[in-house]
Amino acid sequence: MIQQLKRPLADETATLSFGKAFAATLHAGLIIYLHGELGAGKTTLTRGILRGLGYKNVVKSPTYNLVEFYKISKLYCYHFDFYRFKDPSEWEEAGFREYFHANSICLVEWPEKAGDLLPVADLQITIYLSEPGRNLEIHAGTEAGKRCLAHWQEPSNL
Ligand SMILES: Nc1ncnc2c1ncn2[C@@H]1O[C@H](COP(=O)(O)OP(=O)(O)OP(=O)(O)O)[C@@H](O)[C@H]1O
Ligand SMILES: [Mg+2]
Repeated sequence: MIQQLKRPLADETATLSFGKAFAATLHAGLIIYLHGELGAGKTTLTRGILRGLGYKNVVKSPTYNLVEFYKISKLYCYHFDFYRFKDPSEWEEAGFREYFHANSICLVEWPEKAGDLLPVADLQITIYLSEPGRNLEIHAGTEAGKRCLAHWQEPSNL
């Protein structure tokens, strides 16, 4: 089973389209970390994923509220951004641990700001600047994550 996937993303539309397609491989219970510098495209990719999951309204960046919450049919989706954490202890104080449960997909921007307190990620997505576009890498950290990436092993999906 493949454990990593790499993709060039030529422009914003490519990021949104990949996110939308990637959503088809996701299911409740998954934890996804999003790495990449400021403006890399983490929120844009999440916007695509939420579109793919069936969310039709505006997807805001959680930069100021730390978390944006979406309910899509029976699925809960939490989109976090911990950039503003000054100390990992803020993660415990915020009470976010309870959001990581079997019926939710959690997408976390700036997970490194919570130190090693966060639950283990099933998938780690990194977006690298490659002006004018981006390069994306996804690594599976668990068996559930590997099963998601297995979808991209199909020649028709590469
Ligand atoms: N593949 C791409 N090629 C070029 N530009 C892109 C691509 N994907 C997204 N962008 C653009 O890059 C910017 C990324 O903004 P976005 O808010 O998604 O970044 P972010 O990684 O969430 O940043 P932050 O860490 O500040 O939250 C947007 O202006 C978006 O249009
Ligand atoms: Mg963002």
